[in-house]
Amino acid sequence: MATMGSLIGLVNRIQRACTVLGDYGGGDNAFSSLWEALPSVAVVGGQSSGKSSVLESIVGRDFLPRGSGIVTRRPLVLQLHKTDEGSQEYAEFLHLPKRRFTDFGAVRHEIQEETDRITGKTKQISPVPIHLSIYSPNVVNLTLIDLPGLTKVAVEGQPESIVQDIETMVRSYVEKPNCIILAISPANQDIATSDAIKLAREVDPSGERTFGVLTKLDLMDKGTNALDVLEGRSYRLQHPWVGIVNRSQSDINKNVDMIVARRKERDYFATSPDYCHLASKMGSEYLAKLLSQHLESVIRARIPSITSLINKSIDELESEMDHIGRPIALDAGAQLYTVLEVCRAFERIFKEHLDGGRPGGDR
Ligand code: GDP
Ligand code: NA
Ligand code: MG
Repeated sequence: MATMGSLIGLVNRIQRACTVLGDYGGGDNAFSSLWEALPSVAVVGGQSSGKSSVLESIVGRDFLPRGSGIVTRRPLVLQLHKTDEGSQEYAEFLHLPKRRFTDFGAVRHEIQEETDRITGKTKQISPVPIHLSIYSPNVVNLTLIDLPGLTKVAVEGQPESIVQDIETMVRSYVEKPNCIILAISPANQDIATSDAIKLAREVDPSGERTFGVLTKLDLMDKGTNALDVLEGRSYRLQHPWVGIVNRSQSDINKNVDMIVARRKERDYFATSPDYCHLASKMGSEYLAKLLSQHLESVIRARIPSITSLINKSIDELESEMDHIGRPIALDAGAQLYTVLEVCRAFERIFKEHLDGGRPGGDR
């Protein structure tokens, strides 16, 4: 019987296949509906609240451009694929399909270059996403989306419309009912002023798909703590709040690596008089596990509707294949064929889950 982990892996592959076939049939087809039906996790928050840092901690790798000001200027759709123990970690961009990156510094460089390719070396933004896949034994299967930070004013070099443009872009991701919202707020600002919580509350009033993440706990004023937020008294969500300590800018400048950073974060919670009673439910590793578990339960609940969309996609693909003709010589045909195979594998595994009668199962 397939594990839920492999099921999320398949969801990842389907999402990627849908992306490859993005324009197929003009965009309005079973694939676009399928893409919409599959869950993903989007990171939302004010500029420099620590969004990119949280994503890096979840992945356990240094590969995103970070820093003060507007650094993330295009959406980054990041698919994590868990591979066998001992296999080599690598990354691949959709726009560079033949190149395997094993140097994560080069991944960061390529994200910057690819951002500039559309926006120029400016402070402008673009809604055109960059697609990146990471294959690693050290990740959980997840699709994460890094987004530009919400702002309140345009700065030098930005059009006046940028504040609204960013909000519209972020909203287009988080308003989808299948989007899990990672709402990032920095602990050194009042939660009542959090852009993340404001937007999350608008698009998800019941809080069922919002995870509240509090960063920069280490930067709070001495003598204050964030227990009111972390224990759900300031702003109640259906899921528990998770506190995080990312690397500071000086850690980044000193090249403090991820393993050291994770250890420091664990030590921070374990030894903090304020938070040690919550230590097992804090930190980026815990957040990654929480998200993966949540994703699994969401996918499990959606199996019947996803299966029917997949069947529709298979039908569309088969008629397209008949149209192109077999054997396939064309690139497009080969791609369709791959997707068809993925869809069939997907359908098979979903069936196993439906028929397998897991205890407390899906129906
Ligand atoms: P983003 O704009 O929301 O993506 O934020 P970044 O991840 O780029 O982080 C902005 C700045 O805040 C960087 O200099 C980070 O080093 C710093 N930062 C983020 N999280 C923390 C944290 O938990 N503690 C400390 N001390 N600094 C942090
Ligand atoms: Na930033
Ligand atoms: Mg960022």
